[in-house]
Amino acid sequence: MKEVYVIGAGGHAKVIIDTLKNLKWSVVGVVDDHPAKLGTTFEGIRVVGDIPWFHELAQHQTLHAILAIGDNWVRRRVALGLPSVNFVSFVHPRAYVSSTALLGVGTVVMAGAVVQPQVSIGHHVIVNTSASIDHDCVLQDYVHVAPGSHLAGTVLLEQGVFVGIGSSVIPGKCIGAWATVGAGATVIDDIPPDVTVVGTPARAL
Ligand SMILES: CC(C)(COP(=O)(O)OP(=O)(O)OC[C@H]1O[C@@H](n2cnc3c(N)ncnc32)[C@H](O)[C@@H]1OP(=O)(O)O)[C@@H](O)C(=O)NCCC(=O)NCCS
Repeated sequence: MKEVYVIGAGGHAKVIIDTLKNLKWSVVGVVDDHPAKLGTTFEGIRVVGDIPWFHELAQHQTLHAILAIGDNWVRRRVALGLPSVNFVSFVHPRAYVSSTALLGVGTVVMAGAVVQPQVSIGHHVIVNTSASIDHDCVLQDYVHVAPGSHLAGTVLLEQGVFVGIGSSVIPGKCIGAWATVGAGATVIDDIPPDVTVVGTPARAL
């Protein structure tokens, strides 16, 4: 049985822990920086320490962990601050990932999600509940595709892009680094970096 720490004790961590239990992995502890959470239990698992403590521990032993942090920028910061940790990836047993898709380190594919052929997904990406990523898409590091969102084929999401719940992107479009697509949007044009777009068709806020 694989032993893994979960970093983060918020709502996204509940889904991560539930998925790890489904996969029959053993969650040995939760790590969280909030002082009030230390020593408490979260989803039946003890909050064993904060991130500096975990960083120190990882200098002396081989540790496996998963980042349960939904915010892309915070997830990036924590990942870069823990260079000695072995981050694991997982696919929920009720997700579909094509055998020709590539998943990076620390990437998670949640229940009901579909990842089609020749998709390339970077590190610490979240493909959330019932999202679909069609053929030949590229998702760079720290992307989050929220529940029920759909990418048509050959879409490029650059680093740190957040696609809000229930959004769609038509084929071949590129969403620039750290852009945000609001809930329920329909993206029919390329989106520049760092911009927030909403609506159908999606337009800058
Ligand atoms: C797009 C988003 C990031 C904007 O957040 P924000 O910067 O706090 O924006 P505000 O709530 O202040 O709204 C600003 C304006 O945009 C509009 N707006 C916000 N989100 C919108 C959306 N998804 N679609 C259409 N209009 C939207 C608001 O009605 C408001 O319009 P107004 O100025 O005419 O009143 C946010 O509303 C959103 O959609 N987040 C997605 C969250 C999500 O999917 N989470 C999943 C977690 S797993």
